[in-house]
Amino acid sequence: MGFGHVGIKDRIQLAERNVDALRSLGRDPSALEFDEIITPTQAVLGGERVTLFGTNNYLGLTFHAGCVDAAKTASQLQGSGTTGSRMANGSYASHRKLEHEIAAFHGKRDTIIFSTGYLANVGMISALAVSGDYLLIDADSHASIYDGCKMSDAETLRFKHNSPESLARRLKHLAGSEGDKVVIVEGIYSMLGDTAPLKEIAAVVREAGEGVYLMIDEAHSLGVIGHNGRGLSEEDDVEKDCDFITGTFSKSIGTTGGYCVSDHEWFSGLRILSRPYIFTASMTPSAVETARAAFGIVGSAEGRALKSRLQSNYKRVFAGVRALGFETGPQAGPVVALQLPDPQTAIAFWNRTIDEGIYTNIAIPPATPNGLSLLRVSVSAAHTDQEIDRALAVFESIGTESGLISSTRPRTEKLRSPAA
Ligand SMILES: Cc1ncc(COP(=O)(O)O)c(C=O)c1O
Repeated sequence: MGFGHVGIKDRIQLAERNVDALRSLGRDPSALEFDEIITPTQAVLGGERVTLFGTNNYLGLTFHAGCVDAAKTASQLQGSGTTGSRMANGSYASHRKLEHEIAAFHGKRDTIIFSTGYLANVGMISALAVSGDYLLIDADSHASIYDGCKMSDAETLRFKHNSPESLARRLKHLAGSEGDKVVIVEGIYSMLGDTAPLKEIAAVVREAGEGVYLMIDEAHSLGVIGHNGRGLSEEDDVEKDCDFITGTFSKSIGTTGGYCVSDHEWFSGLRILSRPYIFTASMTPSAVETARAAFGIVGSAEGRALKSRLQSNYKRVFAGVRALGFETGPQAGPVVALQLPDPQTAIAFWNRTIDEGIYTNIAIPPATPNGLSLLRVSVSAAHTDQEIDRALAVFESIGTESGLISSTRPRTEKLRSPAA
């Protein structure tokens, strides 16, 4: 035990005390329990009906008949779980089918699926880069990217959020060093909903030449942007430049699981190096078949229609909260973040929205970039205009009553027509 070491019990109690301060303001965000989930946008919480603006159900597929039936049939025919890892216990045919289908969807050579999106990032990063290599990650990366770096013996270097110049400087500094370099960015960043300047980043990586790889996490952009819903790499027409594309099934796909696709002919060999692939149970049959059904939808006309509806919904929310006077992230996306002055205000605001029947997420330091306190509003294709306008009216009334926005700003009632 070193000087100043805080013991297990004290550390846990300290963490509890920090959360207690937030609990004293109302509900405990980490212990919320829904009585019932009725539809992708409606639930019952504490006996009261709420509209869900805090899930990542971007396409609203969680109750899609095709996905739910696929899950039911899979459980009936293949059982409730695989009870082991693919390495030790073998794959089910459906695991490989899903991998082939995702590879075809992305137009890439192969896919490796993981049991969650978190494991896809940790599993890929830790297997790709070892001692002597370099991981160059955007400073605002998701915890799963940071944790993958921690699990790798490679040196991790952060570059300034969304700054190709900062990345270029890092790479220039490393020029001449022997190790391989993996640059990691996200398609849409989960906290503020902003996209990466991917064309510019891909150009910097290309310029850096041999031994520099680009990995993009399309967790929040899959099914959301790109003509066929393949995310920012499709939208920016740089899919060929992306050596590795990871994604999750826990957002637009509506189940659990994650994946990575690549064109490299040696890619499949990562299976025998990736501990999060080897040492955990494989995806359950119901999740695999749900994902297969959902990818079929995302890649179809139905998926494109859902994506358009989602985009017009999030533009409506974004324009609405900005017109009210809230500070947001820089651009409209499936996550619209209202920036609030401090964690206490964010928690109080969040509690009041639930009192008014609107469920959102709060995100406070240390989980946020630059110590921001955010009310995160996740938008779905399944939201109706009425649900969105009601949420905006609630944000307006709480924002006005708490003095966060001026009551002289335009009223939400004036926002009835779709926002640009
Ligand atoms: C950017 C990003 N990557 C990866 C993940 C992990 O996904 P999963 O929920 O499937 O573990 C998340 C989840 O929030 C995320 O936001």
